[in-house]
Amino acid sequence: MFIAGIAQHKRHLTGCVHDEQGWIASSRPHASASLRPAVRGATQVSLHVAPQKHGTRSRSLRLVVPPSRSLSGSGGSLLSLPRSLPKVRLRRIASSLCSPHIANPRAPPYKTAMETPTTTIRELDGYVGQRVTLSGWVYNTRASGKIAFIILRDGTGRCQCVLEKNENTEPFFDDLKKVSQESTIRVTGTVSKEERATGGYELKIDDATILHETHDYPITPKPHGVEFLMKHRHLWFRSHRQWLILRIRATVVDQIRRFFNDHGYVLIDTPMFAPAAGEGAQTLFQVDYFGDMVYLAQTGQLYLEAACMAHRKVYCFGPTFRAEKSKTRRHLTEFWMVEPEIAFCYLPELMDVAEDFVVSIAQRVLRDHREDLIELGRNIEDLEAVQKPFHRITYTEAAELLHSDKAKALLEKDLEEKTARVAELDTKIEELEEIAKGGGKQWKKDKAAAEAIECREERSELQEQVSNIPHHLELAAGFEWGSDLGGSDETIISRLHDRPVFVTHYPKQVKAFYMREDRDDPRVIEGFDLLASQGFGEIIGGSAREEDFDRLVARVREEGLPEHEYEWYLDLRRYGSVPHGGFGLGVERTIAWICGLKHIRETIPYPRMMGKFYP
Ligand code: 4AD
Ligand code: MG
Repeated sequence: MFIAGIAQHKRHLTGCVHDEQGWIASSRPHASASLRPAVRGATQVSLHVAPQKHGTRSRSLRLVVPPSRSLSGSGGSLLSLPRSLPKVRLRRIASSLCSPHIANPRAPPYKTAMETPTTTIRELDGYVGQRVTLSGWVYNTRASGKIAFIILRDGTGRCQCVLEKNENTEPFFDDLKKVSQESTIRVTGTVSKEERATGGYELKIDDATILHETHDYPITPKPHGVEFLMKHRHLWFRSHRQWLILRIRATVVDQIRRFFNDHGYVLIDTPMFAPAAGEGAQTLFQVDYFGDMVYLAQTGQLYLEAACMAHRKVYCFGPTFRAEKSKTRRHLTEFWMVEPEIAFCYLPELMDVAEDFVVSIAQRVLRDHREDLIELGRNIEDLEAVQKPFHRITYTEAAELLHSDKAKALLEKDLEEKTARVAELDTKIEELEEIAKGGGKQWKKDKAAAEAIECREERSELQEQVSNIPHHLELAAGFEWGSDLGGSDETIISRLHDRPVFVTHYPKQVKAFYMREDRDDPRVIEGFDLLASQGFGEIIGGSAREEDFDRLVARVREEGLPEHEYEWYLDLRRYGSVPHGGFGLGVERTIAWICGLKHIRETIPYPRMMGKFYP
């Protein structure tokens, strides 16, 4: 049993608990009910404060619990420590667990945890009614006369801090009241529950120190263009939306590892420098390797296939590189991919694995980040619907769908709705501009101006979409069997399904050389793309691999690939060849889909795209 977060509350420790499976019950400390039976009656319990909790020291301690006084849940939210534990030891444990990890030895000494605990915003619910110290950055301020509201962010959350002028606050009131955005402060005060406040808690300040004053922070609360924000990515991280997305990314990555580790896969790290293409030769990045030319890995797959013959079920997980010249919302030049590879596996079973895997990611994020997703504007019901079984259609059926009246009707309805929305926005923008220019209060004018910027952005996006729809209609209606599905085709197919949809058996010529030829129809391969729902398109590409030596060599030659570079790969078909298969899931596309983001660029800390590599 693990405790992810812990707070001292009189003689109790309140913890956020997870078990061996790592299911952190919630971001707020509470004991998971399902854990209690396992704990009850235990004689030895290991508590571990996980390092992922900001501000808490990573350490373990083992408690010996007498059977009669075993750990048990009480009140559904408290883990009571055994009374037999000496009071002084309990206090020491509690204060050391609660005390912050101070990386900087020159940082000002904190008061001892027992007097005024220094804590983090995420743990505030263990301190309601108590006096605590928080430290963080000023997110936003609002002041009028003798009162100011400071939204503090500390890396674990945001909290509204109230500053009122009185004898306690007199010495620092004026300075703190006008403290600027992103200044670093330390505040002490009493915690209360306040549903309406940002974060749900309020801290009434009675003591404060300004640790660093910031001037002219570039990213103000007003809307900024994406170009500007991307140039300031190193600061943009701090904005709440970006903070939410990268936290979700961390959960997705964690779930990816857990899924494969828990299902008996062996992690194999594959190289980043590769002598030959793993996917299409058009998207290779060349690197001068001491005079030889090598490429940045587009995939770990070929190397993974070799490891699969040693370990049966393997996976690799890391960055991959593609010189994508397309500036679309789905393409990065550096992206993360997880790739499992399974020996003695056929296409249907492979799709079962992909299905279980994707469901596990969606459900884990829903469980751990429901509120975050709502804040991001994600439709939760759509995500809840990500359950087995996914739809399975062939490429040929997909082509028929593109030609169907259903596809046409979908786009025509889109055109109608989006045109109507543009007209609505035209009127709204006019009204807002009127207010912004008028003679009203300044804050009202500023608010209208900011809203107008947002509306203009939405309108220009919609206008672009509206102008593209006729072209997409044409592409779908004129789709020819044998060509690859384009982005707009994938969008149509995925929107015509309520859950993710597998498209299988693509024509050989549009897929990679290693895909297994369908023995019943040699025109197609035994492979699939998984299209995520709500029009997000492909998140997984996978296939059974050609295990037959002669057929594989023929494909290498057909594609004009340098055969000698693939000698080692061909060995896998010379020595103990078996039916096997695998797939690759693009992490960023998956996050964009789960968070409901229009563009992939916000899903990775430092996006790399054509023409974009700063900072
Ligand atoms: O379909 P792809 O190209 O498949 C492979 O690389 C196989 N070797 C995987 C395997 O069978 N082991 O890429 C897999 C996934 C795509 O479905 C997509 O999600 C993501 O990688 N992807 C990209 N993501 C962001 N930017 C790009 N330029 C991407 N190209 C592929
Ligand atoms: Mg693909």
